[in-house]
Amino acid sequence: MKAIGRVLCATGIVAGLIAFFWKDPFIPENLSGARVLLTGASAGIGEQMAYHYARFGAEIVLTARREAVLQKVMEKCLTLGAKKIFYIPADMSSPSEPEKVVQFAVQKLGGLDYLVLNHIGMTHFQMWTGDVEYTRWLMQVNFFSYVALTTAALPTLEKNRGSLVIVSSLTASFLAVSILSFPGKIPTPFTTSYSATKFALDGFFSSLRHELIMQKRNVSVTLCILGLIDTDTALQNTRGKVHISASPAPEAALAIIRGGATRVQEVFYPWWLQQVCCLWVLFPTNRGQVLRSYYNYSSP
Ligand SMILES: NC(=O)c1ccc[n+]([C@@H]2O[C@H](COP(=O)([O-])OP(=O)(O)OC[C@H]3O[C@@H](n4cnc5c(N)ncnc54)[C@H](OP(=O)(O)O)[C@@H]3O)[C@@H](O)[C@H]2O)c1
Repeated sequence: MKAIGRVLCATGIVAGLIAFFWKDPFIPENLSGARVLLTGASAGIGEQMAYHYARFGAEIVLTARREAVLQKVMEKCLTLGAKKIFYIPADMSSPSEPEKVVQFAVQKLGGLDYLVLNHIGMTHFQMWTGDVEYTRWLMQVNFFSYVALTTAALPTLEKNRGSLVIVSSLTASFLAVSILSFPGKIPTPFTTSYSATKFALDGFFSSLRHELIMQKRNVSVTLCILGLIDTDTALQNTRGKVHISASPAPEAALAIIRGGATRVQEVFYPWWLQQVCCLWVLFPTNRGQVLRSYYNYSSP
């Protein structure tokens, strides 16, 4: 009993010391005047990120397809404190749009500190139907446009020691468990094409991060791995199909912004997703069956 008491006491002291000396590396003031290009900014998590950046006093270029909605988000951002704000409507299924959008942002803001890649094309939350054309289209919107936007923005990001922030999903998270040096991944049902695009992002940007470090180019790459978030489209897509509760979009948006600003390699939101990934890797038996039990499907 005495030994347990001592261990508890020591743990308490260590926890107290950590809490006392730990400094939050996120300094919101550093985002004042930061120049941000934000994609998928008209709705959902992107819209919430726009409002956070505005509150922090950033200079922002918003992009998505719907001009009238972008206009409304822009007006709200102005009331919240954005230093400068512009928008440019663009459809990322068109290969010429990414470069045009980056050029517009650089011209309006005089350079970029953050490129936040967040948009996604319409996602079907259903069994694979064999629609190869749709997968090709989604690859263009969710993956190739990210690569093209990054390529166009890298020179200005490098000049400004900037940051690339990529919004991904648990359906495509790889977790390197260093002791086992074993990659983990959690593919989920009903998301074949979407998962493929997100796996592609993980592969491309994790490799690019290595290369930027090897070339001593000071651009950070933050990959954000999100669970189910309560955006209108996600709730609509998953209604009646999953037994998973959704986390709030404004909090997810803030976690992404913090991750980018502190230049961490990965953000997990909600935080416990990282533990889920660890369990997935460490307990391979029956994990697929457990995962499928969260999804509703009755064969026709
Ligand atoms: N919500 C979740 O549960 C969840 C979970 C994991 C990861 N994520 C990730 O979080 C990010 C945001 O998700 P969300 O739920 O906020 O999505 P959302 O609410 O559906 O918003 C998608 C955004 O992308 C834009 N967009 C759609 N098609 C486009 C196109 N062809 N070209 C350019 N922009 C386009 C939309 O605006 P327009 O319609 O005006 O173009 C909108 O601003 C995504 O990367 C997603 O994979 C979300």
